[in-house]
Amino acid sequence: MKEELDNDNKNFGSVISDKGAVIFAIESSCDETSAAVCRDGNILSNFIANQKVHERYGGVVPELASRAHMQNIIPVVDAALKQANVQMDEIDAVAFTQAPGLIGSLLVGSQFAKSMALALNKPLIAVHHMQAHVLSNLIPDRKPSFPFLCLTVSGGHTQIVLAKSASDLSVIGETLDDAAGEAFDKSAKLLGLPYPGGPLIDKYAKEGNPKRFAFAEPHIDGLDFSFSGLKTSILYFLQKETKKDPGFVEKNLADLCASIQSTIISILLKKYKRAALQTGIKDLCIAGGVSANSGLRNAFNEMCVHNEWNAFIPPFEYCTDNAGMIAITAYYKYFERDFADLSVSASARATWD
Ligand code: KG4
Ligand code: ZN
Repeated sequence: MKEELDNDNKNFGSVISDKGAVIFAIESSCDETSAAVCRDGNILSNFIANQKVHERYGGVVPELASRAHMQNIIPVVDAALKQANVQMDEIDAVAFTQAPGLIGSLLVGSQFAKSMALALNKPLIAVHHMQAHVLSNLIPDRKPSFPFLCLTVSGGHTQIVLAKSASDLSVIGETLDDAAGEAFDKSAKLLGLPYPGGPLIDKYAKEGNPKRFAFAEPHIDGLDFSFSGLKTSILYFLQKETKKDPGFVEKNLADLCASIQSTIISILLKKYKRAALQTGIKDLCIAGGVSANSGLRNAFNEMCVHNEWNAFIPPFEYCTDNAGMIAITAYYKYFERDFADLSVSASARATWD
């Protein structure tokens, strides 16, 4: 059976559509079920269903996430096709997030995409979630030129990526421990805020003084990051202050959020600036869930204006997990005939190449 399926897919190389390829994409790596349609590199729809079920647990519960994906996937796929006004028989290729992510979540999207590709007799395209975050910068009309740099900041990763082309991406710096999104979420948890705390820190920080409390920044060589020390120093600081005044967090919430946010931004942008100076690259992007942070967006724009670099930030809906970024990545893979065969399996961890 495997032999037959492999052979089927190998033939697709000769049937490339060159008149506005229609790519259908599914993203299900964590707690968002999303489907998108892209025609000729333009996103026609990007439907995202969030899972509220995790809020009361203070983090994503893998088993609940895969169950919610099972419930959401058919309505989400339907909605994406309707919104794009595209019929099933117009689809030229089916793409999905293959890795990295929660295995139970990835399996729902990958099995659905494989079944769809098989039923439609169209090529299947496997996409690396972190590479898709980087290439989300190619969705808007104003795009960076290759080579460009991307600071990808999400709930599970923090990376500086050098993009020489859509298929030549390399990680030149990354976190040694926690991701920037985790630093936001774990700090928010210490402040008693619900999951995911990143957007709430962003909201309260707008009213606060970022210079009110100082948290130590790590000294890490090269272009790598570390965030675990920050979480520990916030924990000790809050323990000390709440011993003196149990209402300390409540009374100082905005200033605490602003100070924590500005420390995380400072750690990120110092390394990103170093990467830009080292490589001499002037087109700089940010991507991933944390790139939705208004403080980071402003500080990143300011840094680029100051250094005469070109700043690129995807629109909000393409910052957090979404199938639009999977579709645009697959669009580039489609023209390289980078197809997967139906025996491809989802993987929780992924090597970059
Ligand atoms: O990329 P993403 O949607 O999922 C992963 O692949 O991890 O990123 C999710 C992360 C969470 O940690 C969330 O708290 C953070 O992005 N996030 C934010 C904001 N919006 C989302 N962090 C800070 N400020 C925001 N506005
Ligand atoms: Zn992500």
